[in-house]
Amino acid sequence: MCGIFAYLNFHANKERRHILEVLFNGLRRLEYRGYDSAGIAIDDSLSPLHSTSSPPPLVFRQAGNIESLVNSVNQEITNTDLNLDEVFYFHAGIAHTRWATHGEPAPRNSHPQSSGPGDDFLVVHNGVITNYEVLKETLVRHGFTFDSDTDTEVIPKLAKFVFDKANEEGEQTVTFCEVVFEVMRHLEGAYALIFKSWHYPNELVACKRGSPLLLGVKELDQDKSNNHVFKDAHFLSKNDHPKEFFLSSDPHALVEHTKKVLVIEDGEVVHLKDGGVSILKFERRNGSSRPASVERALSVLEMEVEQINKGKYDHYMQKEIHEQPESLTTTMRGRLIRGGGSRKPKAVLLGGLKDHLKTIRRSRRIVFIGCGTSYNAALASRPILEELSGIPVSMEIASDLWDRQGPIYREDTAVFVSQSGETADTLLALEYARENGALCVGITNTVGSSIARKTHCGVHINAGAEIGVASTKAYTSQIVVMVMLALAIGSDTISSQTRREAIVDGLLDLPNKVREVLKLDEEMKDLAQLLIDEQSLLVFGRGYNYATALEGALKVKEVSLMHSEGILAGEMKHGPLALVDENLPIAVIATRDACFSKQQSVIQQLHARKGRLIVMCSKGDAASVSSSGSCRAIEVPQVEDCLQPVVNIVPLQLLAYHLTVLRGHNVDQPRNLAKSVTTQ
Ligand code: UD1
Ligand code: M6R
Repeated sequence: MCGIFAYLNFHANKERRHILEVLFNGLRRLEYRGYDSAGIAIDDSLSPLHSTSSPPPLVFRQAGNIESLVNSVNQEITNTDLNLDEVFYFHAGIAHTRWATHGEPAPRNSHPQSSGPGDDFLVVHNGVITNYEVLKETLVRHGFTFDSDTDTEVIPKLAKFVFDKANEEGEQTVTFCEVVFEVMRHLEGAYALIFKSWHYPNELVACKRGSPLLLGVKELDQDKSNNHVFKDAHFLSKNDHPKEFFLSSDPHALVEHTKKVLVIEDGEVVHLKDGGVSILKFERRNGSSRPASVERALSVLEMEVEQINKGKYDHYMQKEIHEQPESLTTTMRGRLIRGGGSRKPKAVLLGGLKDHLKTIRRSRRIVFIGCGTSYNAALASRPILEELSGIPVSMEIASDLWDRQGPIYREDTAVFVSQSGETADTLLALEYARENGALCVGITNTVGSSIARKTHCGVHINAGAEIGVASTKAYTSQIVVMVMLALAIGSDTISSQTRREAIVDGLLDLPNKVREVLKLDEEMKDLAQLLIDEQSLLVFGRGYNYATALEGALKVKEVSLMHSEGILAGEMKHGPLALVDENLPIAVIATRDACFSKQQSVIQQLHARKGRLIVMCSKGDAASVSSSGSCRAIEVPQVEDCLQPVVNIVPLQLLAYHLTVLRGHNVDQPRNLAKSVTTQ
């Protein structure tokens, strides 16, 4: 939800045109995080490095996506004759793409939010300020007037209030960083913030609590070392070397510029000034809390620019569906032991869990916690985890666990599943489980994310960047990781060794099977053509594939905007059967596993009521599933039962994709959604 970005060039001549392009491209990379409005702030004219102030910046804000902002800025530039060739030796620009929480998408609610006339302080914000009403009342009493409906507007106004007060009191030397520290002391909620002020030309201050933020550094002269560890507070000490700094909500907007990054921690304030970076954090000493310098090291991003480009595909969702054979291979890389026989059994090795397996095996219960697709992936993996571990596994939707304050005990292992690792509901549930003493295990795609850092241990799914808002390749990689988790926990049980080895073989062959099922692309496009005008699609599944029904329906509704519902087939007779007639399309998952015969009866009962069926079955079963009535059969390769959900979801992902394109909707940025749901 929301993406923030900043670009600061130091001792490096850059045209205004270039600065704008860097800011716009940063926003394009972050657009998947929120896309209902956007804005930027840049400098008006040349500002000398050591002047005490410079003219107020130029602020552009627009409702709609990034391209609407780009068009409106271009229009404004034409109208005002703003010189795009003007060269800046130093410049600090900030940018924002928004997913509305407080106030409709409109220029006045877009960021940067301002301290008021004169734009003394400008702020871009990702997150939610929960005590903004109280702060607003106080600021109104001090004469501030508010123009937006946002929670964010209190922040720049508070900065101005702090700055003015310090100046009134004669503290001429109040630094930008001190202003932000004081502001931060008053804020409650979750936030990542970047501040710009003409009182502090060519400086930026960023801070965070709860929402993600990274700093990227690019030195423009000869770059000799990869990893900088500095002993003093200024890990990139002030020097005159030309360089560029980038601040971003996630690495996608950094990787095309630099791989040298710093993941900013909660409570830290980062000050970019005079070519140096200083990081400060509140430290409690002698009963009072004061800012103290922090030593940090840059790390190297493990991401390639190609990962975040669409390549030969029209949409990210399409690319991500089709790259699943490769993403699954990467997920399993180095984690499968291809042995055989009693001396060296085939097994899995999850580096992040090996020291914790004993504790997990002793758990009274394993609780899977997640939202949306991540929840569905956990549901798909529950049966095999129960089977191989013998431990009861319960399922929790993160927001529901938190709402009910459901019981979590010290003897529990709580497994948090999240692609982004930043989902607010899942994070709250994680804090809750930690407070209750459970062992917290993370399963996430994002190294350095809040969930990866706050869990006691975990497994990265290594599926590569997923940019389409609809989760596809992360889902299949999550299932594979959780199947590997089940294998690892159950690895001390001799009686299940044959079963475990068969699953390891199944995992090794899984990318090939997914490659095979992807050949259904055209067939799913034809099916989408048939369903294009439908109002609704039901999906029935059970056992391992109850999750496939839920996830297939979620994909269809989320991107194609067609109503769709995943239903446990065992529940059909308890209500949903009433919906069945000759018009409503119904997909039934009936691939071969322990539930196959039960699904055959479901198909017969639906045929008996003239149901309009699409049946997903194992290769060679098309004739038998249509023997009791006409239906469209989709044949998929058969794999080990616990891996079948990985294969079965692929045709439904393709169906959702083609339905969306044919119905003319935005595939990668579905209406009202955002990739990373960082608000409750
Ligand atoms: C790690 C390295 C990988 C290297 C491999 C070989 C990282 C991120 N991974 O992979 O580059 O090739 O060793 O030795 O450096 N964790 C959590 N919560 C989570 C996810 C992970 O706490 O949600 C922790 C794990 O417990 C572990 C660490 O993060 O301590 C890395 O996890 P993971 O990447 O899954 O470990 P490996 O597969 O061993
Ligand atoms: O990043 P997370 O996996 O925690 O996200 C959870 C859900 O918001 C997410 O899976 C959502 O349901 C997807 N957009 C569905 O495709």
